[in-house]
Parts: sequence; C-alpha cells; structure tokens
Amino acid sequence: MTTSITLVRGDITEQHADAIVNAANSSLLGGGGVDGAIHRRGGPEILEACRALRASRYGKGLPTGQAVATTAGRLPARWVIHTVGPVWSATEDRSELLASCYREALRVADELGARTVAFPAVSTGVYRWPMEDAARIAVETVRATDTGVEEVRFVLFDEPAYQAFAAHAG
Ligand code: AR6
Repeated sequence: MTTSITLVRGDITEQHADAIVNAANSSLLGGGGVDGAIHRRGGPEILEACRALRASRYGKGLPTGQAVATTAGRLPARWVIHTVGPVWSATEDRSELLASCYREALRVADELGARTVAFPAVSTGVYRWPMEDAARIAVETVRATDTGVEEVRFVLFDEPAYQAFAAHAG
C-alpha cells in the first residue's frame, strides 16, 4: 500500500482526518502547544479518556516514543492518537525515539482502521527539537513504515516549519 504524504499549513485541531496526533507528555493530562489546543477545543471527553488510560494501562504514564488512542471529543477527527516525543538533547542522539513516535502512531492508526492521519511536527515546540532535523526524521520514517494509512498529512503551524517539511517531502 502506498501512503501519500501531504503538507498543509494550519491548526491540527481543525483537521478533518480520521485521526489527529497529539504531541503529548507522559502524564497524558494536558499541557501547552498542540496538547493544550487539542484538549481546549476537543472538550473534557478527551481528558476523561486519558485519565482512564492512566488508571488502567499507563499507571506510570505513556513512555516516550509510544502512542495510544482516545476519542477526539468535539473535534472533527474521530480519534486522537497521543504520542510522547523526546526532549531534544545536544549530547545524546534521541532520533530513534522520535522516529518511534511516527511508527507507533501509524501502528495504532492501523489498529483503529484510520485511513487519514494528521501529524504535527512532534518535539519541535516545547521539546526544542530543531525543525530541519525533525522534518527529515518524520518524512523518512513515514516513508519507511508499512501501513494501511492512505494519507499522512503533516500540519505545520508556520511557514518555516512548512518549508522544512517541503524540503524532504517535496
Ligand atoms: N496545530 C499544529 N501545530 C501546532 C499547533 C497547532 N494547534 N500548536 C503548536 N504547534 P509542541 P512538543 C506546533 O510544543 O515540542 C506540551 O506542553 C509548534 O509550533 O506542541 O512535542 C505537551 O504537553 C511546534 O512546531 O509539542 C508536552 O509537555 C509543534 O507543533 C510538550 O508540550 C510541536 O510543539 C510537547 O512538546
């Protein structure tokens, strides 16, 4: 199955896709950036589902590089797939963990039967990963992943992010 990669500039919470991916933290209980926007616009149902996951499968939190799905509440998407990106480090190569976020989110999307999945640029905000490098890892990983997802849409918040992804996906 070939997966098409599309790029859009915009807000991930407005995307009409089967699933949107959240750049979450291990607590799954919300934060700033994409995470804050998803919980704010999606409503309390998402947080309730996250709390239930913490009380069952993820007592210690969702580990970095893994992914888990919840309802998307009031958002146009059907599901939110939460993943936890690595914090950028200048001294340690954490690229494999960032690649794992994309692979694991697509694996969860396959389990759900999602055909269109929208991703933000995971780890490039609060977690400070340099955009050019994050874009390369994101695009290369999606291309190398065997998935039933038909469209992976990268939703980039500003022009520099869009250009960084375009350099690899164009
Ligand atoms: N739609 C699309 N992209 C966005 C949006 C949006 N609505 N808002 C921000 N971005 P970040 P991280 C871009 O910080 O680096 C949270 O507090 C943003 O410009 O959301 O993985 C979590 O709870 C940047 O390029 O995620 C964690 O604690 C990219 O999305 C922590 O931040 C990711 O920025 C995760 O940090």
